[in-house]
Amino acid sequence: MHSQYAHFTAPCEQTEARITSILTRLTLEEKISLLGGIIMNPDGNTIGLPDKGVPPLRMADGPVGVHWWCASSTAYPATVALAATWDHELGYRMGASIGRDARARGIHILLAPGVNIYRSPLCGRNFEYLGEDPFLAAWMVTGYIRGCQDQGVATTVKHFACNYQEYDRHGISTDVDERTLREIYLPAFEAAVKSAGTGCLMTAYNLINGEHASEHQYLINTVLKDEWGFDGLVMSDWVSTYSAVQAANHGLDLEMPNARFLTIEKLLPSIDNGLVTEAVIDDKIHRLLRLMVAFGWLDHPQKDESIPQEDPQSWATALDVARDGCVLLRNQQHELPLDPRRVRKLAVIGAHASRPVICGGGSAYTPPNHLVSILDAIRQLAPKDMEISHAVGVNPWRHEDRIKDSLFRTPDGSPGLLGEWFKGRDATGQPDLVRVDDHVDFDWQGLPPMEDFPADDFRVCWRGEMTATETGEYLFYVGVHEASQYQLLVGPTIVVDSAHATSGLIKVGRCDLIEGQTYPVMLIYRALRQWNSVRLGYEPASAVEAEFQAAIELAASADAVILCTGFTRETESEGFDRDFMLPEGQESLVRAITGANAHTTLALHAGGNVDMTAWHDHLAALLHVWYPGQEGGQAIAEILFGKINPSGKLPITFEHNLQQRSSYDWYHDADGDKRVQMGDGIFGGYRHVDRHAIEPRYPFGFGLSYTTFAYEKLRLSVQRIGPNDSISASFDVINTGKREGAEIAQLYLRDDTASVLRPEKELKGFAKVKLQPGERATVTIELTPRDLKFYDPSRGQWIAEPGAFTIFIGSSSRHLHLSTTFTLTP
Ligand code: BGC
Repeated sequence: MHSQYAHFTAPCEQTEARITSILTRLTLEEKISLLGGIIMNPDGNTIGLPDKGVPPLRMADGPVGVHWWCASSTAYPATVALAATWDHELGYRMGASIGRDARARGIHILLAPGVNIYRSPLCGRNFEYLGEDPFLAAWMVTGYIRGCQDQGVATTVKHFACNYQEYDRHGISTDVDERTLREIYLPAFEAAVKSAGTGCLMTAYNLINGEHASEHQYLINTVLKDEWGFDGLVMSDWVSTYSAVQAANHGLDLEMPNARFLTIEKLLPSIDNGLVTEAVIDDKIHRLLRLMVAFGWLDHPQKDESIPQEDPQSWATALDVARDGCVLLRNQQHELPLDPRRVRKLAVIGAHASRPVICGGGSAYTPPNHLVSILDAIRQLAPKDMEISHAVGVNPWRHEDRIKDSLFRTPDGSPGLLGEWFKGRDATGQPDLVRVDDHVDFDWQGLPPMEDFPADDFRVCWRGEMTATETGEYLFYVGVHEASQYQLLVGPTIVVDSAHATSGLIKVGRCDLIEGQTYPVMLIYRALRQWNSVRLGYEPASAVEAEFQAAIELAASADAVILCTGFTRETESEGFDRDFMLPEGQESLVRAITGANAHTTLALHAGGNVDMTAWHDHLAALLHVWYPGQEGGQAIAEILFGKINPSGKLPITFEHNLQQRSSYDWYHDADGDKRVQMGDGIFGGYRHVDRHAIEPRYPFGFGLSYTTFAYEKLRLSVQRIGPNDSISASFDVINTGKREGAEIAQLYLRDDTASVLRPEKELKGFAKVKLQPGERATVTIELTPRDLKFYDPSRGQWIAEPGAFTIFIGSSSRHLHLSTTFTLTP
């Protein structure tokens, strides 16, 4: 596909002359002032110097929809769902649609896509990334970037690099060897830079081999800028710059969201005493200006009024990604598509059915501008005489209302809680402020809680009492953002605290109370970083139980159940890691519903795998829907009723338990030294299960269809190739079933005679083919010289060793139908 901006970094005399003419008009102070962003500015997120011809730039988060500068926009499916489509063209379309949405809102820079490699299901941001395989991620990201940049919007590939966990994300160092870095964690970035020409790149929160990502000399200057020739802009992730001289010299071009280190106060003296040269500053401004010139931001308004804010074209893209991204993992006795002759009464159960869960949480979350629930779409598509009933079962958002309506009284009997506010998390003595808060329901969005208070260092102690209206267990909800400390006491009992926290934004504590009795309540909250929120509510557990029972009764009375559950943006999110098991209430719901009805289909919402041990075998069908975006309800209903034949395949390995994952021993900072070795090296995901002959629950590349496919006649263009030659593998795919369907045929390569340990096989190509029943297509996949290579750190090079290679063609990494060998000659 032709791309006007894809290679914008290619040198061009005119561009350079224009940049130089602006650059020479700027004073040193002005140049330094451009090195940091600006928070809450109505004009943009970077500083502008309009008199000097430098406009402020607007940034917006992606990767699954544009937000910040608008109340809502099209919310696309999770990017891991995009990866599950294995469709480069669809990647282009999604990038292009997001690019249009951005243009409609005057956005210059999209803070996306994210390409961090999936190492563990626990990472809270897996849904934002492109799966476990570097080849697939590289291929998909290229389409997305080209699509977006072709609309005149620069992309920001993130988070560079090795950002694979949210737990203590600002503190942990990922310790990784060179070969693993090159073969697994960098290829998607490399493709984003070299093949797609991304305009910007964002560094990660974590450290790599002990150095902060935002000041990583080797990664930014050596690999990214020198070796890959990146001449776009390197920005920090939000509030993750730690030095002025180091960051400036080691390649950081823009400190976001505002300058705390790359400031005039800190940099001018360093320039005066020779620690930083003016040429280093000039290079950063040069990069910023190059973006502006190359993307046309100096020549036309970025806001394109001809693109509608609510754009049916974008909705269609979101729908197609959801249709093609859902993965059908299990379908016992052809449970799906639903057979209307058998299913007269259909129970649709789960909160996710009626209140769409379109995305995980954090900066990726996009308020949708159109929404279709699974329940509504089922009602629309079901035959007229099918009876559809709905029960929630477990409401993951109960706390929202409870936070607003829970009754507290201050120690002197007025409504609310008495808050003592201290500047400083460890401050003692007299509070800086005392006031009554009706409810504890605060989200400060990165700002201080009030004037004069530090945003990242304060403490509040709320005290009061509550009266139990019944005898029995009570649930207490404490909502807190990221790294903060808290403790809730009811009477003398600590019911929930940060030292024993479960994952998720809402922590639930339990205690038994007696009707009519009044209990003292105390919530102590300490803000440790700049992004804070705190909430509090309670209710008797009996209210929750009644909802649960109603769902089980409904399931038992139906001919089939569509159970819609999984994680939500409060339980799988940026900012914290999640559990492997479904959130407590949801896990019990799946168990109970599968026990009540053998014809249960689960539409599972999660950014990756979950613990299915207790209920998997009782499911009739399992459709993994990831986070399906605003049109997801429609896509899911179409799949359930057979209007769409599912074709998605897993971009990750689904293990039975966490122990089967290579990261099991190499994920947490077990000894507390803030360093995590990537001891599993290049052997993650399917490379790991292959090496140890582990049978995963569902292999990488797996996904069912309502039709069947056969593979035949593998042949190669040549049998022997030289080091600079390519080779093509051709084979036939035949639709052997009764309906039209799409198959994702995969090519894996094994180096049979390597002198170093290499994976059993690696994905090196794939093709998606759409076939009518009985139809046959010939697929040809080309392997380039790089596809044969491994990275040799001792030589600092990619190496292919002469010898035999085996090509496998399959419908998944564990369903290999054809194979053949060829020889690489010296
Ligand atoms: C995230 C980035 C995001 C930025 C701006 C950070 O917390 O890590 O991915 O682009 O916030 O929202």
